[in-house]
Amino acid sequence: MNTLESTQQQEEVFTMPRIGDKAPEFTATTTQGEINFPSDYKGEWSILFSHPADFTPVCTSEFMTFAHLEDKFKKANCNLVGLSIDGLYSHIAWLRTIKDKIKFNGMEKVEVKFPLIEDISMNVAKKYGMIQPGESKTQAVRAVFFVDPEGIVRALIYYPLSLGRNFDELYRALIAMQTSDKFNVATPADWNPGDDVIVSPAGSCGVAEERMTGTEDLECQDWFFCTKKLDKDLVLNTILKK
Ligand code: BEZ
Repeated sequence: MNTLESTQQQEEVFTMPRIGDKAPEFTATTTQGEINFPSDYKGEWSILFSHPADFTPVCTSEFMTFAHLEDKFKKANCNLVGLSIDGLYSHIAWLRTIKDKIKFNGMEKVEVKFPLIEDISMNVAKKYGMIQPGESKTQAVRAVFFVDPEGIVRALIYYPLSLGRNFDELYRALIAMQTSDKFNVATPADWNPGDDVIVSPAGSCGVAEERMTGTEDLECQDWFFCTKKLDKDLVLNTILKK
């Protein structure tokens, strides 16, 4: 065996769930008690996200932002679940410090009410491919898994350690996927509620011809690129809880 082969053999292989996979199941201790994921969230969406470590500034800014937006995500039928490779008492101490001392972006006295998983064993982080050894062998990167009401991974976004997440994009992606599900459409680049949506491509020559002759209520640039209006209030009233 040459040196490269033996190094490769020694390096642990980390798997990660893919879009369309069943979200790997786990039971974990969190700052809100024990959770079973994803079964505790059946019938609702969840965002499972990791951060590198407690008591670090980028993570603190992200946790404050997630906590500030929790009600907005809840209104969109989505639960937040955080994780880092730290112990429960570290998590508790960090969240208390955030509430007592930290001000960021106009936010202060922020209470984190969603569960933060303790994952000293890296059990969950390994199942979800949150350890990216090229970036860090001991800290999780900033992974975001969108899991749907059936427990299926619908999207994943990964950021490196130094880059705080964009929360407008996380919310936009959640609403766009829910809109696709409810209205059987796709959403184009930079879509937001109120913007036109994409209808599925013509699946036959007949439908392609119909699309170009304008018999449907669509705007077609060409037979394969058709959009239609989708009212913003209809989208929001359908998706958001009252
Ligand atoms: C942070 O959250 O500030 C951070 C964590 C790990 C590496 C770099 C930054």
